[in-house]
Amino acid sequence: MGKVTISTLGKKKAEGEKFVCITAYDATFARVIAEAGAETILVGDSLGMVLQGHDSTIPVTVEHMRYHTECVCRAATDALVIADMPFMSYTTPEQTMANATALMQAGAQMVKMEGGTWLSDTISMLVERGIPVCAHLGLTPQSVNTFGGFKVQGRTPKEAKSILADAVEIQDAGASLLVLECIPSHLAADISRKLDIPVIGIGAGPGTDAQVLVMHDLLGLSEHTARFVHNFMEGQNTIQGGLKAFVEAVKAGEYPREEHSYT
Ligand code: KIV
Repeated sequence: MGKVTISTLGKKKAEGEKFVCITAYDATFARVIAEAGAETILVGDSLGMVLQGHDSTIPVTVEHMRYHTECVCRAATDALVIADMPFMSYTTPEQTMANATALMQAGAQMVKMEGGTWLSDTISMLVERGIPVCAHLGLTPQSVNTFGGFKVQGRTPKEAKSILADAVEIQDAGASLLVLECIPSHLAADISRKLDIPVIGIGAGPGTDAQVLVMHDLLGLSEHTARFVHNFMEGQNTIQGGLKAFVEAVKAGEYPREEHSYT
């Protein structure tokens, strides 16, 4: 495959070829995920839930993210590694620069931040200084307390309009990728068509340019899973088989299906 860059992902979008992202938090899983053919690995702050046992991502710190990013980057081979900026780590320009620098120096090729229009200046500042940004809209888990729970977003015309406007603005600010989480399929497909940058969906239906799942969810290890999760270990004898089944299903357009999507 060769080292995956933002140009590789842009070319895939232009050619209508789906790509895959899977979360990883350590070297062994980073290696097997890259070997399974996932183009991108997300060191997600979901580690607060699946590794640390919290009920949200809010307790995760920059030091946790830096440590796990280093572990993943030692073994991610050709995959592009995106590291999450955790809760409240991007509130002022100085703090944002210092924290994004720490994750890039741990080996990430891009940082991810949750938010829309209000992040425009932050995104421009990072991109101008050489730090690519993946934005994250829809159900942004760091705002779980503002949403009153992990709830599908963008169902009313007002919310949908606001998510679309945010997506356009973060692209204009210089973001290289966008994650859309738990929004209706038609809205995610519309945003993916309107944007030039690749859009990665999770619980956002089949119309995005790529799909991401939390590794523990797709391997059937999580206690509670959302409607959009499928257990890719079904019919597989090995973890490598389960990861490959997810990669192949996304690339073939067989996942997600209607039953995994929101209206
Ligand atoms: O932290 C994470 O794993 C994420 C994905 C759910 C997109 O942000």
